[in-house]
Amino acid sequence: MKRLEDNVERVLLAKEEIAQKVNEMAAEMDKIYQGEEVVFVCILKGSVAFFGDLARAVSFPVVYDFMCVSSYGSGTVSGGSVRINKDLSTDIAGKHVVVIEDILDTGNTLHALFRQLQARNPKSLRLCCLLDKPERRTKPVSADFVGFTIPDEFVVGYGLDYDEKYRQLPYIGILKRCVYEK
Ligand code: PRP
Repeated sequence: MKRLEDNVERVLLAKEEIAQKVNEMAAEMDKIYQGEEVVFVCILKGSVAFFGDLARAVSFPVVYDFMCVSSYGSGTVSGGSVRINKDLSTDIAGKHVVVIEDILDTGNTLHALFRQLQARNPKSLRLCCLLDKPERRTKPVSADFVGFTIPDEFVVGYGLDYDEKYRQLPYIGILKRCVYEK
């Protein structure tokens, strides 16, 4: 059987680079939230690795919560909305909340999700994305904390998938075109 690595064109971000960036992002967050309790919302499934590493790197107390959403895209009448497949188990009213995402792409998911979360009256609501692909943006969304700005390439690993595979790779790599252009 072919190894997952064989379908990776090249490594875009090595595991050491990711680890260093996560520490830098945690330090940036520490300055803002020092001493405050913050609800970290992990958007399943791609953010799991980043979420776990980031939560362990910050110094303030973190409450874990999870959401699973699917975007309807921009072609819908509403101009993009999300279906919540799994909702938070915490009431975020009056809480500091940070949504943790692996990648900000078109912005459809986060644009719609933020409207819904804002309506629950958190004390503050910020977005933290490991990867940002600004070239692909169709909605006015920007993250408060960004790890890496990357080109419009098909990336996998460190949580990111193609057809539910490759999430387990410890680095972020560019997938070979032949894999998804079959
Ligand atoms: C990814 C990512 C965001 C969304 C971003 O999730 O985690 O939620 O896509 O894309 P957008 O900016 O174009 O809306 P995905 O739907 O791939 O699910 P997964 O995390 O379970 O892999």
